Amino acid sequence: MNKLEFLFRWTHVFAGIVWIGHLYFFNFVNLQLQGKLDDAGKKVVNPHLMPRALWWFRWGAMATFLTGLIMFGQIYCYTPEIGWGANMILKGSEGLTDRARWIMWGMTFGSIMWFNVWFIIWPAQKKLLGGTAGDAAPALRTRAALASRINTYLSAPMLVGMLAANHAGMSFSYGALLTAALLGLAVIKTAYVHSTFVGQKV
Ligand code: HEM
Repeated sequence: MNKLEFLFRWTHVFAGIVWIGHLYFFNFVNLQLQGKLDDAGKKVVNPHLMPRALWWFRWGAMATFLTGLIMFGQIYCYTPEIGWGANMILKGSEGLTDRARWIMWGMTFGSIMWFNVWFIIWPAQKKLLGGTAGDAAPALRTRAALASRINTYLSAPMLVGMLAANHAGMSFSYGALLTAALLGLAVIKTAYVHSTFVGQKV
């Protein structure tokens, strides 16, 4: 691995932590907090909390997405001394390699999540927090909450796609993808259930 690739890899994982860390904060901490606040409490807390948290959230998503695309180009679509084009990490004699198939599924999940952040959650929150939502506020709130929940569920199989080939040496099959996805969904569901009662007391 060359140093430039390592730099992008490090930045990608760093930005991913920032993004997904905030996603989990919204879903496993803030959702429960908001349920305990009355309208007056929300008016005090949210104008200070939400714009800050959403800034890290959306720009973390953008940096993760862009560094991911750059790495895909570097690792799968470039060969030193030959140039750009599908290389042997992307395609072998029998078509796409296992590593490519894992990362492409991971990238598909990650890209859906990035889309949800930038084109559903953030536009809705901008209107809600900016006070311009008007009568559309309840619908926007529901839409943003659904996209956020979908992203939380997608995050677990997405991370399997990022890690399976390189760190577990897993060969690709749809059975393995489905098993990993179901296990991931079960972990997220458990975290949602636990978030309703854990950490309420010191
Ligand atoms: C948003 C869309 C995303 C794209 C397009 C993307 C793309 C990539 C690519 C191309 C790789 C390199 C795979 C390889 O070496 O074969 C990678 C690795 C990785 N990605 Fe992503 N990714 C995305 C989202 C995320 C997110 C949200 C996280 C969360 C932390 C993440 C964490 C990782 C990790 C941990 C690795 C492995 C690093 C390593 O092997 O050293 N990715 N990603």
